[in-house]
Amino acid sequence: MTTTYAVLSEGLEKRFGAVHALRGLDLAVAEGTVCGLLGPNGAGKTTAVRLLTTLLRPDAGSARIAGHDLVREAAAVRRRIGVTGQSASVDGDLTGRQNLRLFARLHRVRDASARTDDLLDRFGLAEAADRPASTLSGGMRRRLDLAASLVRRPDVLFLDEPTTGLDPASRNRIWDAVRALKAEGTTVLLTTQYLEEADRLADDIALVDRGRVAHTGSPAELKALVGSYAEAVVTDADALARAAGVLDRLTGTEPALDHDRRTVGAVSTDQTLTLPRLVRELDAAGVPLADASLRPPTLDDVFLRLTDDDTGDDDTGDNTGDSKELVA
Ligand SMILES: Nc1ncnc2c1ncn2[C@@H]1O[C@H](COP(=O)(O)OP(=O)(O)OP(=O)(O)O)[C@@H](O)[C@H]1O
Ligand SMILES: [Mg+2]
Repeated sequence: MTTTYAVLSEGLEKRFGAVHALRGLDLAVAEGTVCGLLGPNGAGKTTAVRLLTTLLRPDAGSARIAGHDLVREAAAVRRRIGVTGQSASVDGDLTGRQNLRLFARLHRVRDASARTDDLLDRFGLAEAADRPASTLSGGMRRRLDLAASLVRRPDVLFLDEPTTGLDPASRNRIWDAVRALKAEGTTVLLTTQYLEEADRLADDIALVDRGRVAHTGSPAELKALVGSYAEAVVTDADALARAAGVLDRLTGTEPALDHDRRTVGAVSTDQTLTLPRLVRELDAAGVPLADASLRPPTLDDVFLRLTDDDTGDDDTGDNTGDSKELVA
């Protein structure tokens, strides 16, 4: 079986003056899947979305969206996609219903009125239906925005930080909506700074770091790359350095020390490390232990591990990060 990609980009570049925002973005999102573009502030996530949705032209590179060339067939691309950006696109003077109807008319949706009611219902926007959008709460407005991008049933939906700043209830509604869209066959590319969000929603995660995809994989694969997180709490602050030495040796990663909490922790790349061994080795080194733990890594750990230590391959092509080989 061959995979069809709803989004396939190669070497996308974008500069804003001196800022090289995208430095060769390669991305492959299989049809019908949810891809999470995960990265810190300024990594290039929004720029990537703006390029892939034809709002900006790439300086170099190419992409196909739903089978159409991003630049040569921009109009066709636009007909197949929906996009919800970091800032609202709905008209504040119009009510929720009026906004959705306007989108439906703009895009010549045949069952406009039924579609509008369905979306208002699906996103819990009954309250927003007859109120001007400018009077809605941030969460409701975001949901209205998302509903607007779905009016004409896009094949590929781009969501730029769909839940940033939302309360847990609003966030859950958006998560449910993304899951429902996926179940209907829509491909979703969403950007997020929330590791939990990518973990919960995405089939695949692309870690974006300084304008490039630094690593890709399923949440589970990325976690497996890291192994686990080892932590030791000591009873005597003087023993911290000794504990750090043990963790350094066992995990293969330089540990972080927290003197106030008398805690030392490190992401372990050794997948065979067990808690009994950790305790035994700390004990053998004469470390007075208050507690020790070994937990599955969070995506935070993954991100720090996979993006922080491999600056070596940026422009020199010299490959120093040991994690690189595993995903090459
Ligand atoms: N219109 C612009 N003019 C100049 N620089 C820009 C412009 N848009 C983005 N940049 C710069 O490009 C880089 C990438 O920005 P981008 O908004 O894509 O990051 P991001 O990953 O979306 O960050 P955030 O998590 O804060 O939304 C940043 O250094 C940013 O300052
Ligand atoms: Mg952004």
